[in-house]
Amino acid sequence: MTVDRLELLPPVPAGAARVAFLGDVVGKVGRRVAKAVVEPLRRAGVGLVVANAENASGGNGCTAREARELLAAGIDVLTMGNHVWKHKDLLPVLEAEPCVVRPANFPAGTPGRGHGTYDLPGGGRLVVVNLMGRTFLEHTECPFRTMDALLAELGGPGPDPPADAGPRPAMLVDFHAEATAEKHALRWYLDGRVTALFGTHTHVQTSDAERTPLGTAYVTDVGCCGGWPSVIGFEPGPVLARFLTLRPHPYVPRDGPGRVEGAVFDLDPATGRCLAVLTIRVA
Ligand SMILES: [Fe+2]
Ligand SMILES: [Fe+2]
Repeated sequence: MTVDRLELLPPVPAGAARVAFLGDVVGKVGRRVAKAVVEPLRRAGVGLVVANAENASGGNGCTAREARELLAAGIDVLTMGNHVWKHKDLLPVLEAEPCVVRPANFPAGTPGRGHGTYDLPGGGRLVVVNLMGRTFLEHTECPFRTMDALLAELGGPGPDPPADAGPRPAMLVDFHAEATAEKHALRWYLDGRVTALFGTHTHVQTSDAERTPLGTAYVTDVGCCGGWPSVIGFEPGPVLARFLTLRPHPYVPRDGPGRVEGAVFDLDPATGRCLAVLTIRVA
């Protein structure tokens, strides 16, 4: 189910934490609508807001300035994707800023970090992982085995822990990937092992949000924040020119009105399990 007005979100269940993820933020319009939705999300009970910022600067990559602009507006964590290396001035931000994460499945020694751990306002911790698919994208390390290693290191959702063990961290995985089958495969691989696994990168929200019996939320793609109507957040003209002429035509972020797409997850901070997932699409 998709909510088109945040006032329609149900109350946060007792004892639960609510977190929101905003799909790829595209250019100036994307930044504007993503920033504008932070306060309404807080009023709807969201304790932590995460956004994918790999298209935040002119539609391609993210500069230090735009990363800081989004964080200053109240977005708590930024994830990236295949355009993460577009602007060199993001490198020091990736190194210094724990709230900005790049895909985890790059070789050891790559600048920045592939995940971050954040305190949830009501107690408990949330791990945010950024991960990249390998089908129709640049080569990276295996996303499946990268998750095995991370879960072995950090722990993750699972059965109620013994009283003396402390709560397990909840874990959101932004799987920045092109192919639906690769995302579906990882959904099965991580079922019951993470709080939520969802796709970014294709910029088109899918209507398949589900919560599995093992307490993992899944969405193939949460969508994008940007100008609308558009071609995945961009002006149609140059996109059509590229397809029709087979020559390079730089994509231009769509100007004018925009919309926010993403997903809201309610989770149990004690077990890390997802209790409910809803996609959002707010114009
Ligand atoms: Fe993107
Ligand atoms: Fe991407």
